[in-house]
Amino acid sequence: MVETVSVSENGDFVTVNFGTTRHRFHAIWLRDNALDPETRSAGNGQRLITLADIPADVRISVASPVANGTEVSFTPEAKTVQFTAEWLIENAYYHEKRSDFTLPQHVETWDKDLQTNVPTGYLPDVAQAGSALQSWLFDVRRYGFAKLTGGTVESGALLQVAAMFGYIRETNSGKWFEVRTEVNPTNLAYTGLGLQAHTDNPYRDPVSTLQILYCLENSAKGGDSMVIDGFRAAEKLRELNPTGFDLLSGYPARFEYAGEDGVCLRSRRPMIELPPDGQLVGVRFNNRSTAHIVDVPFDQMSDFYTAYRQFADIIDDPDLAVSFKMKPGECFIVDNTRVMHARKGYSGEGSRWLQGCYADKDGLLLTLTAMERRVEAAE
Ligand code: OGA
Ligand code: ZN
Repeated sequence: MVETVSVSENGDFVTVNFGTTRHRFHAIWLRDNALDPETRSAGNGQRLITLADIPADVRISVASPVANGTEVSFTPEAKTVQFTAEWLIENAYYHEKRSDFTLPQHVETWDKDLQTNVPTGYLPDVAQAGSALQSWLFDVRRYGFAKLTGGTVESGALLQVAAMFGYIRETNSGKWFEVRTEVNPTNLAYTGLGLQAHTDNPYRDPVSTLQILYCLENSAKGGDSMVIDGFRAAEKLRELNPTGFDLLSGYPARFEYAGEDGVCLRSRRPMIELPPDGQLVGVRFNNRSTAHIVDVPFDQMSDFYTAYRQFADIIDDPDLAVSFKMKPGECFIVDNTRVMHARKGYSGEGSRWLQGCYADKDGLLLTLTAMERRVEAAE
């Protein structure tokens, strides 16, 4: 319910009083976001105009409450449109400067305590595409990590996991890759060595945003998996060493992979990606493929390395890790822009064989939000 609307003296904004709360909206913002069929296509919702179609001196001439919202007239266009109270409240923008560090919406950071409640779905149920899928995807969005049990022990089964929510991201390594000990490994992952917690392929630009690791054999001694929330690690670094946090987020690192003939992949991105508004976007961390970091000024390199070491120590701290040993037919997914994965070394009798693939978050989030909207609409 809109109770009153008042136009500022020179018409550059309106104040809408909803009774319990008040919000201000600029003339240019309201005009640009008008919902009428000349501004937005009624069919697909896309904007039909450009900024050049709006006079630079756009002002609000009159604004008044109507049945379920507000009616606004713009000058010099002589255009009148309506906005519902619900739409205005939902889209009200911030009046104060936001705090300097926030987590993205829907994200909840975690540490080793998640061990007692590892987000896990049962694949045959999740594959039904109903509420089990929705709650599994919900966990992936929230924790950046979830397991699946009860899958088939069959080469390529991981493709079906990706198909439940989105699309495989094919790379120069193909649709998927084999993770098992090789004679001439092109990657240290294809040995029995332990792997420090890492995000995969930080040398890709853009980086793959989801990774699935699917277990087909795991009878070797060792080879346990670990996952670590990189957002929690970033929060911890910021608490312990705010200046170090600023260095890791303020300078790009470099990542490179050139381990096969004809392949050279490079990127230049910060280890902690923080845009100017302070809402954390992602982390990249990979000891194997960090290249020479050359974008940090000489005077700050030593402090940069101190911060890098501290970040690595936080990542290596068992207090942050959730660990498990995968059984054949089990897999896990990580948000590769946030959650790191690691494995213990393995050797001895028996075998270990995983398959890995990448997918992207847009497909997963699209599937999840479509399911959520359907459920909301039915309620
Ligand atoms: C990988 C990897 C972990 C494992 O292939 O990206 O990190 O458990 N493997 O083998
Ligand atoms: Zn990996």
